[in-house]
Amino acid sequence: MRFELALALFAASIVAAAGCSSGGADDASREDDVRPVERAILGAARPYNPDRSLDGKKDALDASQKARREVAWKAMAKILRDRNVADDGVEVDGKRAKIPAFRTWYGKDDYERMFAKLYGEHGKQARVAKKAFTNAQIDAVMDWNASDRGSWGDAQFEERLQQIDSRAAAQGLGGNARVSYSTGAVRHMLKNWAPLTKCARGELADDPKAEPAKAANFAPCLNDEFPKDAAVIKAAWLRSDFGLKVPVRPTDAASIRARFEGSVDEGGWGKGDANEASPEESSIYTVKMSDGSSFRMPALHLVTKELREWLWITIWWSPEPDTDFGADRPAEIGRLGGPWKNYKMCVVTGYEEKDPDPTGGFPKGPGSLGDALAATYQGVGAPSWCSNQYIERGAHNAQTNCIGCHQHAGTSLRSEAILADPVAFPELGRTKVRKNFPADYVFAAMSPPESLAQIMQAQVEHYATIDR
Ligand code: HEC
Repeated sequence: MRFELALALFAASIVAAAGCSSGGADDASREDDVRPVERAILGAARPYNPDRSLDGKKDALDASQKARREVAWKAMAKILRDRNVADDGVEVDGKRAKIPAFRTWYGKDDYERMFAKLYGEHGKQARVAKKAFTNAQIDAVMDWNASDRGSWGDAQFEERLQQIDSRAAAQGLGGNARVSYSTGAVRHMLKNWAPLTKCARGELADDPKAEPAKAANFAPCLNDEFPKDAAVIKAAWLRSDFGLKVPVRPTDAASIRARFEGSVDEGGWGKGDANEASPEESSIYTVKMSDGSSFRMPALHLVTKELREWLWITIWWSPEPDTDFGADRPAEIGRLGGPWKNYKMCVVTGYEEKDPDPTGGFPKGPGSLGDALAATYQGVGAPSWCSNQYIERGAHNAQTNCIGCHQHAGTSLRSEAILADPVAFPELGRTKVRKNFPADYVFAAMSPPESLAQIMQAQVEHYATIDR
């Protein structure tokens, strides 16, 4: 078992050393995982605490931008709230180090370690019978992952602790990977190793028009859909050292309308032509990595399974944070402290816009939220809209709505293909064209660069030769 683990860690370190693209916006810097040493300092991920009543309010959310936006800010506040890191010896400015809840969530690296250990210890019989892991097995591996320092000796561990000498350095404990998963999301994918790897092997033909085999499960690559406490984030990171700046594109009504109509940048967010800003650490979420490099986080996606077809939220940094998509930011976000009052937000709860009011019930006028919402409004029953300039890159990406593209998760379709085919995927891919959703809207489960099912499949193949 130790050998398997070492192998997995070795593979993970190669990926890190090879300088995996961070993929965020225009930057292609190296990506830092949460290694065993950082995980031991952070402790286990903070579970996402879902609002279990939300799914029952779906129609009301679809019919009201206002109701939808209130729920979205609340969900964001939950994951942005600072939490103590587990190691009580880590202090910044004489106080216990803290990190936003979502920064404790599991990365691909954690996932790979946990699966490798679970699967190895599952034993030949259970592996061959494709038995799911029990809750107790998953609890145990999560405890182990949260405390095992891997190959790090005391001296090295101390050295890593010594690097945490500022707020940004403490934030660096959470790495700068793009995608992280809540406890509920990880549990579910671990439990579903057998159906996920079956799909990864291509053993399940994709038929977009097939009715789900079970009414309660529309995801053929899973035994059940994700649970309500499943949440996943995707972040954008931009290097902030060497005087590097943050491109800024306005999101007022006129700017959004031009992109939405496709009259600028092919309906995308454009390249290299934006204004630039150099926000301070107090204004934008900033991390310092173990090698001394610094990154800003200009944008963050959050999806939660509180709604059956997920709740789709995104925030982006702005030098004018209180206009348009920031105008209704509740005091709750301001009270979080830190940079979070400088981010704007949009949200989608369904494929179709059902709010009869183009302005969503918000005030109109220059720089207003009402006008900004009206810029993409096409009437009740037309597709919804939400897009983030730092994450959705390339032509047509400013015309999209999250959910429409994500319905294809688990298929071999790529984003570019979805956006480029108005016949197969009308309205820039925003409409519902499938009857089943292979990976329950989560691309990372089956697609690169996360490819969690493929990571599991590599272990499955490895043991298949041993278990023969
Ligand atoms: C045109 C397609 C497309 C659109 C539009 C889109 N995404 Fe994604 N998204 C992807 C793909 C492909 C991935 C996986 C690859 C990656 O990680 O970059 C992904 C990854 C993610 C992830 C990580 C979990 C996962 O599913 O892999 C989250 C969270 C996410 N997107 C949220 C959003 C939100 C919120 C929006 C709307 C503001 C959005 N996405 C719009 C294609 C899209």
